[in-house]
Amino acid sequence: MSVLSASASAAFKRNFASSAKAPRLLSGRTLAPTVNHNSSAGLKILAVLYKGGEAAKQEPRLLGSVENQLGIREWLESQGHEYIVTDDKEGPNSVFQKNLKDTDILITTPFHPGYLTRELIEKSPNLKLCVTAGVGSDHIDLNAAVERNIEVLEVTGSNVTSVAEHVVMSILLLVRNFVPAHEMIERGEWQVSEIAKNAYDLEGKVIGTLGAGRIGYRVLERLQPFSPKELLYYDYNALPEAAAKQVNARRVEDLKDFVSQCDIVTVNAPLHEGTRNLINADLLKHFKKGAWLVNTARGAICNAEDVAAALKSGQLNGYAGDVWNVQPAPKDHPWRQMKNKYGGGNGMVPHYSGTTLDAQARYAAGTKQILENYFKGKPQEPANIIVGRGKYETKSYGQR
Ligand code: NAI
Repeated sequence: MSVLSASASAAFKRNFASSAKAPRLLSGRTLAPTVNHNSSAGLKILAVLYKGGEAAKQEPRLLGSVENQLGIREWLESQGHEYIVTDDKEGPNSVFQKNLKDTDILITTPFHPGYLTRELIEKSPNLKLCVTAGVGSDHIDLNAAVERNIEVLEVTGSNVTSVAEHVVMSILLLVRNFVPAHEMIERGEWQVSEIAKNAYDLEGKVIGTLGAGRIGYRVLERLQPFSPKELLYYDYNALPEAAAKQVNARRVEDLKDFVSQCDIVTVNAPLHEGTRNLINADLLKHFKKGAWLVNTARGAICNAEDVAAALKSGQLNGYAGDVWNVQPAPKDHPWRQMKNKYGGGNGMVPHYSGTTLDAQARYAAGTKQILENYFKGKPQEPANIIVGRGKYETKSYGQR
């Protein structure tokens, strides 16, 4: 292991791992602290996944799809559990909402989120465990889960490298004006000046991450070799000194001050009360004129209309990401068509950065491990616990 990864890993342990807890024994139907493990047989498990269609037939490694069902159907059924898998998630008549009423364990994914609201939690008396196949559990009302003693676990770390790579790619495609250049080629045209007039190098720019956790830190690590002028971060959890030093990142404690210093801002914080709508018209005024903004964290951290307006006015030169405030995004969502004054600056894609085939293998295996621990009454990996029994176990979803 390199010095860098050893120290980074120590930093992450210190910053993000929840304290070790006594083994948690969980029964299937009661919340009693002492349990008969056999009572966890015959549970109803509901999974909301995205539709794979033809792609799932072509590629069996699309494990996160409705068709391939995280690869756990046989395993679950061999233990006597019922396993319902659907992509039908909107409205009271959806398969999701109808089955939720007597579901014991809910599996969801951020890519096609089954939104578990407080109201739905109230109507789901059997629900004891929510597993996010991936990272980011904001589609669950976490405060309501705390109150109801519903545990929320995710497969922490399963796709953080996948996302960090996407962030670096998105920064490069905006700064280098890649998308309009490629579209020009497809149209059969060739006008170098039209592209070059808004193309820059990454070298020498100031790049800042809002959120310096697992993904944010990996982004900083990957940006260092591009010789930026400076790397900055804004996070209420400071990086350990050694970790910050490894990536040569400077912390800025005031948000407006932070964005005003960056040529490029990348958002890598979870969505919670403190980040929802954080990047709005008011904050965008404090960005450097013509800055680039990349958001692969959650769409609702940025105000959709305000971002589109900032792109149009030139306050932003580009915006890229894969996350949307509603998923699937409606056809008329402003981020689909928004452009800068040159007709470029849009690097939006569907939510897929954390669901590469490599990531799917990891989050499918991680989901199975969480379920296995639950069935056997074994303690869960502390870093995977977002909400434990009646309390938040993570420091990432706001300062509490
Ligand atoms: P993490 O928990 O390791 O790090 C999050 C960091 O954000 C923490 O250091 C936390 O202190 C910081 N933070 C929280 N609120 C903040 C605020 N108001 N201002 C500044 N910093 C704040 O999480 P990780 O693994 O880095 O993931 C971050 C988020 O990325 C996830 O919660 C998820 O929403 C998103 N994500 C997106 C994926 C995609 O496919 N696009 C896949 C995986 C994660």
